[in-house]
Amino acid sequence: MASEVLSGSLVEVLRTPAPEVIVLPTTKEVDIQAFKILAQTVIDKPRAVLTLATGGTPLGLYALMAEAHKSHVLDFSGVTTKNLDEYWPLPKDHPQSYSRFMKDNLFNKINIPACQRHIPDSSAEDPLKETARYQSTLQSIGSSDLTILGIGPEMTCHIAFNERGSSLGSRVRLVDVSEETIKANARFFGGDQTEVPRRAITQGVADILESKRIILLAKGKSKALGIKRTLEGEISEDAPASFLRLHPKVTFILDEEAGSLLTRD
Ligand code: GLP
Repeated sequence: MASEVLSGSLVEVLRTPAPEVIVLPTTKEVDIQAFKILAQTVIDKPRAVLTLATGGTPLGLYALMAEAHKSHVLDFSGVTTKNLDEYWPLPKDHPQSYSRFMKDNLFNKINIPACQRHIPDSSAEDPLKETARYQSTLQSIGSSDLTILGIGPEMTCHIAFNERGSSLGSRVRLVDVSEETIKANARFFGGDQTEVPRRAITQGVADILESKRIILLAKGKSKALGIKRTLEGEISEDAPASFLRLHPKVTFILDEEAGSLLTRD
């Protein structure tokens, strides 16, 4: 089965243009480049659908979106958002739930109506029912115009919570968070790994690839090996972010450190 998927991928990759890779000197320039793409998407289509990420990486972009709203440069009132993932279980208002993260860092600072913002429920009693509900929400909204992605630490090469071993055809599901990710994300939980939830609800690789356009942002040295593996290694389940190379319109926006190990011509 895996080899069928992989040989299918090889055929696809031959048909798909190489991903665009932009390496910029500073993290600020990464934020500005990402903001320009996002702003153009919303200007071209005021009712755009955006898929959004959490983590430290998109914070600069979210700050620029808040600034653009405050200064009346952009209107987000028609935008619909679908978040990539959420821990489970965690009280919804836990400071580290992604629902709270999105409110604190973006939603409370711009004007997307609450009914147009979608994220899995970290406090759902039955996580399997919640994954089914979220999948059907995604289906009823339809494909995203733009997806913002980060990438997991070191060699996890995860996108959303699609850890190593996630397949090209994977969909919304309940997953185990990998030990490496627990270690990396403990910094958000006062450095205590035991506080990091062991499971999460995530959009699958196939859900992500349905987006019309994808940008992956990566900053810092800890992403350099994973970025090299993602862009220059085999397209495989061993590095879920490598599946992005099968998408016809994907842009990797990297700072100098994250792009430092790439082979340049
Ligand atoms: C988490 C999220 C990912 C995110 C990753 C990177 O594990 N599930 O969606 O891309 O962190 O986080 P950071 O941007 O903080 O490096």
